[in-house]
Amino acid sequence: MSIIILGIESSCDDTGAAVISDGLLLSNVLASQKVHEEYGGVVPELASRAHQQNIVPVVDTAIRRAGISKNDISAIAFTRGPGLLGSLLVGTSFAKGMSLGLHIPIIDVNHLHGHVLSHFVREQENDEVPEFPFLCLLISGGNSQLILVKSPFDMEILGQTIDDAAGEAFDKCAKVMGLPYPGGPHIDRLAAEGDPTRFKFAKPRIDGLDYSFSGLKTSFLYTLRDNVKVNPDFVKENMADLAASLQRTIIDILIDKLDKAVKLTGVRTVAIGGGVSANSGVRQAVAQYCDRHGLKAFIPKRMFTTDNAAMVAIAGYFKYQKKDFCHYDAAPYARVTL
Ligand code: KG4
Repeated sequence: MSIIILGIESSCDDTGAAVISDGLLLSNVLASQKVHEEYGGVVPELASRAHQQNIVPVVDTAIRRAGISKNDISAIAFTRGPGLLGSLLVGTSFAKGMSLGLHIPIIDVNHLHGHVLSHFVREQENDEVPEFPFLCLLISGGNSQLILVKSPFDMEILGQTIDDAAGEAFDKCAKVMGLPYPGGPHIDRLAAEGDPTRFKFAKPRIDGLDYSFSGLKTSFLYTLRDNVKVNPDFVKENMADLAASLQRTIIDILIDKLDKAVKLTGVRTVAIGGGVSANSGVRQAVAQYCDRHGLKAFIPKRMFTTDNAAMVAIAGYFKYQKKDFCHYDAAPYARVTL
């Protein structure tokens, strides 16, 4: 009999539900919350309320699109953390209630595990998945980590940011350029038309595999401040070059440490994940790096880069096979590492 997992994701501002049968994706539904746009960032209380409104129709749609009945589900996997507590509580409580009603187990999923394991979601039977061990560059709004993935349950963080995450560097620099939140996708779009060599920003000098992005942010700010003093229209006139130079610097920082990690571990497979892995420049740079070094690259489809429930369902599928279920007293957690 097939193992059918319903995955539920509600850690931030997207309500997601997905159904996976023996690792094959049957449906993947996501309701993004528009309510935060006018505030320039996610407002936790509004996010929880929107999750409450969205969760029933989103789960219902996922089950219908999968062409199954709720009685076919083997277990429900949900994101337990990290994330916004109120938002996580909606998904956690819903999963518990539904599992009690259906008499099936629940499986708690670490959101970061989900991002790493998203590469195992297959849309077609013959879709390729990474072989263990592989290196995963997990880059999002809250994390920048280099992870050695030895098995679905054995992951070692080799390096991580000591200050801002890569996504924060994109978003904070975009904000001072007057771009809407989140700024990453806007920088990506503008960078395509700019000269990446026009401006030089500071790069960190940190030993080992840890990242740092706060120096770059400060150097970006100073460049803007010094130039705006002379020409108040500096930012408007140089949007594309600023975006391209910023993006180039972030990519250089990411690839520099990735290269060190590849040499240190000797792995032959590299995967990327998290919101920033949607960036066109990052995707191209990682693909080219892997090509040059004869490595296998796993670049996720854009829909699997940001928060989604398919990755929660696949992480749940791995845990289901070990009968690693969770108790009803499991509370969500705001912070957790891998
Ligand atoms: O993984 P994610 O959806 O959730 C958080 O960890 O918050 O990542 C969101 C981050 C934001 O910083 C956003 O600006 C960034 O991913 N992002 C991008 C792009 N798309 C999303 N950054 C650069 N280029 C993009 N195309």
